[in-house]
Amino acid sequence: MLNVGIVGGTGYTGIELMRLLSMHHEARIVAITSRAEEGVSVADIFPSLRGHVDLVFEKPTLSALTGCDVVFFATPHGVAMEQAEELVARGVRVIDLAADFRLKDLSQWKKWYGPQHTAQPLLEEAVYGLPELNREKIKAARVVGNPGCYATAIELGFAPLLASGLIDPTSLIADAKSGASGAGRKKELSSLYSEVGDNFKAYGLGGHRHHPEIVEVLNELSGGRVKLKFTPHLLPINRGILATLYANLTKCDLSMVRESFENFYKDEPFVDFLPIGQFPDTRSVRGSNFCKIGLQVSDDQSSVIVISVLDNLVKGASGQAIQNMNIMFGLDEKMGLNSLGLVP
Ligand SMILES: NC(=O)c1ccc[n+]([C@@H]2O[C@H](COP(=O)([O-])OP(=O)(O)OC[C@H]3O[C@@H](n4cnc5c(N)ncnc54)[C@H](OP(=O)(O)O)[C@@H]3O)[C@@H](O)[C@H]2O)c1
Repeated sequence: MLNVGIVGGTGYTGIELMRLLSMHHEARIVAITSRAEEGVSVADIFPSLRGHVDLVFEKPTLSALTGCDVVFFATPHGVAMEQAEELVARGVRVIDLAADFRLKDLSQWKKWYGPQHTAQPLLEEAVYGLPELNREKIKAARVVGNPGCYATAIELGFAPLLASGLIDPTSLIADAKSGASGAGRKKELSSLYSEVGDNFKAYGLGGHRHHPEIVEVLNELSGGRVKLKFTPHLLPINRGILATLYANLTKCDLSMVRESFENFYKDEPFVDFLPIGQFPDTRSVRGSNFCKIGLQVSDDQSSVIVISVLDNLVKGASGQAIQNMNIMFGLDEKMGLNSLGLVP
């Protein structure tokens, strides 16, 4: 039985980690932190977890976390890198849901996240936690940088096409939409119900933090030639990402495009490539760890349109983090992740 710690237990991804780990047979949560709710019982704030998580929020101290086999950081960027080195030195494995261990290029880290990365040696050995691309490396990783939610949807949608050389890597467009939980549970004017509800808008047009992450990962599949235009949007729903992806085809052959996805994902437990002519919607993955993908070749055969959907809190965050934990500890990769999409 794995002893699990969660730093940041009152945020949306922390709550989702607790929900999913409650259904896991080989892991138990032994430490859960919140500075604001220190001393308060988890069940008092989240009745959905009553009877399943019998813990009290505590401060994120080293002593609270060192008895764990693995610690999830469900915190803003900059938190995990402050504690990860000491935890790893004590034999604790770390999965960060923020961006501290995602980007290998430090100049990009500084540009998008801050002046200094304080755990550079760990960053060098950290593994980007996208199982569909990095499963073997994740097995041995002491530190995993769990991918961003938009990044997961977009990378899984483009990966087979880039790996098979069927698209021009300089022609990528990602028009992506996220539910409001993607912004977290912190109090912000832009997250108010009357700001998000009955509304739809683009944001981050000057640049989004997931852009360098996506380019870094896709460059590895295409020899460093990726050029990507990426615009995120905010949807008036709680959960879900839908990414509409466009690229110019180098070979105008629908059957080759279809086969590239079928082959790439044939053994993947959490990527579902739909039959040609079918397209996934957000509710088909809500609450589940699936990324569902459908595609269409344009009328003039010059380009491909891929629809990639996932739940930002599950495959886009906490579910993928648990998938990574399962791989790191040699467990069944699907353990605790058997929920299907909630329809309606
Ligand atoms: N929401 C999503 O869909 C999503 C998807 C993929 C990745 N992510 C990433 O996952 C991380 C967590 O996201 P979230 O949406 O769950 O955030 P959130 O709802 O804002 O929650 C943040 C949590 O971190 C704790 N925290 C904040 N500052 C801290 C600090 N300095 N030290 C220790 N704990 C701290 C907070 O509790 P206290 O302040 O009480 O300690 C809270 O429990 C973020 O990096 C986010 O970018 C989010």
